[in-house]
Amino acid sequence: MRKFGLIGYPLGHSFSKKHFSEKFEKEGIEAEYELYPLEAIDELPTLVKSTKGLEGINVTIPYKESVLKFLDEIDEKAAAIGAVNTIKIQKGKLKGYNTDYIGFKNSLTKFIGANPMPENALILGTGGASKAVQAALYDLGIQHRLVSRNPQDNALSYQHLNTPTPQHLNTYKLIINTTPLGMAPKTDSLPDLPYNQLTPDHFLYDLVYNPLVTAFLQEGIDAKCWVKNGLEMLYGQAEAAWEIWNK
Ligand SMILES: NC(=O)c1ccc[n+]([C@@H]2O[C@H](COP(=O)([O-])OP(=O)(O)OC[C@H]3O[C@@H](n4cnc5c(N)ncnc54)[C@H](OP(=O)(O)O)[C@@H]3O)[C@@H](O)[C@H]2O)c1
Repeated sequence: MRKFGLIGYPLGHSFSKKHFSEKFEKEGIEAEYELYPLEAIDELPTLVKSTKGLEGINVTIPYKESVLKFLDEIDEKAAAIGAVNTIKIQKGKLKGYNTDYIGFKNSLTKFIGANPMPENALILGTGGASKAVQAALYDLGIQHRLVSRNPQDNALSYQHLNTPTPQHLNTYKLIINTTPLGMAPKTDSLPDLPYNQLTPDHFLYDLVYNPLVTAFLQEGIDAKCWVKNGLEMLYGQAEAAWEIWNK
C-alpha cells in the first residue's frame, strides 16, 4: 500500500489528512495518509526506515526549517527559501520541496487576473510563510517591502505605515498578510494599518483561510478593494505535493 503522511508537533486537526483521505477515496487511489507527530525532528530517519511504502511526507510547524539537515537533496527553490513543506521518498532517499511557494504564486497570479501586475507590494510578517511569498514575488517581478514588529534592514514598521498622508499606501498597491492575525479563534485581530487609506486600486491577499473573511479582508471589502483569502493557496500547495509525489 502506498503511504503518505504529515510530520509536525503537536498535530491536532489536519487539513492535509482530510484532503488526501477524501481524495484517495473519491478517486479510487489505493493509498493511506497518516499523521506522524514527532516530538523531535531527529526521529524522522527511524520513521522513514520503519514505515513500509512511505513515498511522501508533508512537513508542518515546527519542522519546516529544521528538517533540511535530514534531506539527501533539496529542490533549488526550497533551498533559496530555506524551508521545506513536502518530501518525496525514492529508494530511501529524501528530497525536499516548498509547495507553499507554488500554491501562493499560482493563486496570486489568478487573483490579479487580467489586471496589470502591481509593481510594489507590502508583505506583513517575516516568518516561514513570508519567505515563500517573498520568493514568489521576486519571481513574478514584483518589488516588495517587509513589514515587521521589529524591522531589520529595509523593512518597515507598522508605525511607519500609519502616517496621516497615504505616502506608503499610494506606492504599495498589493498588501499580503502572512501573519497569523485574524486566524480563528482570535478573529477580531488584524494588522495595524491605516485602512482609511485603502482605495479600489488596492489588492489585499490574506494567507489565513479560517475564517474565509478575516477582519483584514473585511477592511478591504469595505474600501472596495480586490480581496483574496488563503484557501486556494492551501489546496494549491496540497495538489503541488501530490504532483511531486507522482512525477
Ligand atoms: N494558505 C496557506 O496555504 C498557508 C500556508 C502557510 C501558512 N499559512 C498561514 O500563514 C500564517 C503565518 O504562518 P507562518 O508559518 O509564517 O507563521 P510564523 O512563522 O509564526 O510567522 C508569522 C510572522 O507573523 C508576524 N507575527 C506573528 N504574530 C504577530 C502579531 N501578534 N502581530 C503582528 N505580527 C505578528 C511575525 O513577524 P514579525 O515578528 O516580523 O512581526 C512572524 O514572523 C499562519 O496563519 C498560517 O496558517 C497559510
